[in-house]
Amino acid sequence: MKFGILTSGGDCAGLNAVIRSIGLYLLRNVKNAEIVGIPDGYGGLIRGESFPLKREDFEGILDKGGTILRTSRQPFKRMTVSEEGGSRLTKMLANYKKMGLDCLFTLGGAGTHKTAALLSMEGCNVIGVPKTIDNDIYGTDVTFGFRTAVEVVTDAIDRIATTAASHSRVMLVEVMGNKAGWLTLHSGIAAGVHVILIPEIPFDLDAVCGAVSARLAVGERTTLIAVAEGAVLASEAKYKKDERAFVRTAFGETTVTRHLAEVIGERTGAETRYSVLGYLQRGGTPCAYDRLLCSRLGGFAAKLAREGKFGVTAAVSGGNITFNALADVAGKYKFVDPQGDDVQFAKSIGVSFGDRPSS
Ligand code: F6P
Repeated sequence: MKFGILTSGGDCAGLNAVIRSIGLYLLRNVKNAEIVGIPDGYGGLIRGESFPLKREDFEGILDKGGTILRTSRQPFKRMTVSEEGGSRLTKMLANYKKMGLDCLFTLGGAGTHKTAALLSMEGCNVIGVPKTIDNDIYGTDVTFGFRTAVEVVTDAIDRIATTAASHSRVMLVEVMGNKAGWLTLHSGIAAGVHVILIPEIPFDLDAVCGAVSARLAVGERTTLIAVAEGAVLASEAKYKKDERAFVRTAFGETTVTRHLAEVIGERTGAETRYSVLGYLQRGGTPCAYDRLLCSRLGGFAAKLAREGKFGVTAAVSGGNITFNALADVAGKYKFVDPQGDDVQFAKSIGVSFGDRPSS
């Protein structure tokens, strides 16, 4: 059997650990398994590029950040648009056949899963593995890469906390997560921040400034605020993402963090600074939890392939590794529930989410 592996969308720690586990399982459990890597995610499949992966390629990569296959973003909405030589979908289907693939492993996030579902619908044997620091893939308790990012962000906030305390400052830390606030929520709680702002809970400037002022009033001169890059003001929530982006771009911003820092400084009189953590959240070696999770997910996905179970994606449910039909998860997201345990617990110990107390 011939197997292709690709990694698509934004990278994260643990991609290589999954690739390794898929490879080791197939070489050990499938007679005459031939494995190829497809470079640059769906980009390589569109162009019809692949290269052989041998046993030695899977050695020594368990703890390596990034992806040995490289990745790229290929927006789902472009897949069926006709262009020179046919649509990207047509090209991928033709190249899947030309490469002689019996199965394609797609390691990626929500967008990758949408395209994987489309390929599967069109007759390719596809198996997904859920990746993303955003942890927003529907149908799985956790995605690989998320826990490593939580460690990285928590460590970063811990470091910012000491300088914030030294200077008696309000510090805002911008964390990745455009649609979903999982990374901000979990690392914010783990780092003991005082305010957490996530896309799922539009925030009110008065409420955030009020939280800072309330701390100042009892002599707490340092306030730590974790802001998801997708956090929105309650007043902006009525706009669609594109309209909001348009308004913000006019002010030279794509996120709300700098504006918020300025307003807090002006209204509370506190010395205020902000840090955008950026791509360091996606880089580097996976933590032990992710190495284990990736190894299990990769081995499980390869086992599904051996059993001929296609059109599915691996998932975690209640600590067990399982799978979902691609068709059932594609196009859906897993968001933070504002009424859920994590948020309610954090509120119970005094963390502000910038919402009005009544909501
Ligand atoms: O991988 C998801 C993500 O990290 C988002 O949280 C972030 O908004 C985005 O990727 C940034 O991606 P890019 O690499 O395209 O700038």
